[in-house]
Amino acid sequence: MVNKQKIDEATGTKTVGHEWDGIEELDTPMPRWWLLTLYACIIWALVYVVLYPAWPMLNSATEGVLGWSSRGEYQKAVAARETELEPIRQALVSTDINMLADNPELLNEAIQGGRSAFKVHCVQCHGAGAAGFKGYPNLNDDEWLWGGDMEAIEYTLINGIRNPDHAETRFSQMPAFGRDGILQSSEIQDLVSYVRVLSNREKQSASATRGAALFETNCSVCHGSDAKGSRMQGAPNLTDAINLYGLDRASLTDTITNSRYGVMPRWGHRLDAATIRMLTAYVHSLGGGETAPKSEERSIDQAVTDIQAETPVDEQS
Ligand code: HEC
Ligand code: HEC
Repeated sequence: MVNKQKIDEATGTKTVGHEWDGIEELDTPMPRWWLLTLYACIIWALVYVVLYPAWPMLNSATEGVLGWSSRGEYQKAVAARETELEPIRQALVSTDINMLADNPELLNEAIQGGRSAFKVHCVQCHGAGAAGFKGYPNLNDDEWLWGGDMEAIEYTLINGIRNPDHAETRFSQMPAFGRDGILQSSEIQDLVSYVRVLSNREKQSASATRGAALFETNCSVCHGSDAKGSRMQGAPNLTDAINLYGLDRASLTDTITNSRYGVMPRWGHRLDAATIRMLTAYVHSLGGGETAPKSEERSIDQAVTDIQAETPVDEQS
């Protein structure tokens, strides 16, 4: 290998000076357009580094003189959306919740907002489609433990269910009939039979007949003589297939022996009034929403709520 530059005779171009077995490499210069493009790219890169965040540092990147950042853009978009929503939030909070249905546009905005808020705060317990799980009620059906008109739903959301730290929480406690020795296990089995007859899971039997009598004395206070439930107590209707904890004999035995005590967090101190209203509208829209009760019924409801609110939680049962 000889290392010597010379002019190639055939092309008149300089060689790089290497030769392998008589083959030489020409030192053809880069085309001018290519070089110019390369220099333009380098200049562009330098300008970019000065203007935009680019150079990685220990904790962040250099900021760039324009002050642009993708996070800043995101925050701007969020702020813009917030400003857009502000009048809607104001209108929501200042509208009587029972009148919301009269303003379809506002109602629709509320439902959309509620749908997103539900994904953040509620799906972990009620499921993405709000269909619930064992112990966590389905919010799509038209069976309600505590009430399904806007006002009742909003009350549930603000105050929660069985929150030990909050006097206005929805509260009731089914006794643990077996664990606390109120009923014998044979009596509980009779009640199980009766509840299964009520929900059409079993045929009428002597056991169920005994259960019916026990039901009247022990259970009708909360579930009603007709077993259709009571919203004052959050006591479910036992005459249909909708259930929280299962209608097989084992689940029912467990429910009546130990009771259940479902707890739902309260949201009044975590979410702002407008968001709660949006969630209310969304839950109400899911399929089981009821219209507001007539005013005199509502005042009875309200009176009961007031009495409950005045009673310290640990005295309610
Ligand atoms: C930690 C679990 C949990 C979370 C989170 C939760 N819930 Fe609940 N929710 C429950 C339970 C349990 C019940 C039933 C309590 C009972 O047995 O009375 C319930 C009941 C309800 C009820 C009453 C249903 C009826 O039939 O009266 C509504 C309405 C409701 N939830 C809406 C919501 C909304 C809206 C959110 C989100 C802001 C939410 N829940 C978040 C557990 C939860
Ligand atoms: C103090 C009121 C009260 C009394 C009395 C009461 N219950 Fe309940 N019951 C409830 C409440 C509230 C629930 C909702 C479950 C919870 O605690 O989360 C419930 C739930 C149930 C369930 C579960 C239904 C489901 O959807 O899975 C069954 C079954 C039931 N009760 C049967 C009985 C029977 C039988 C008796 C009488 C021996 C009785 N209850 C007495 C309040 C009461």
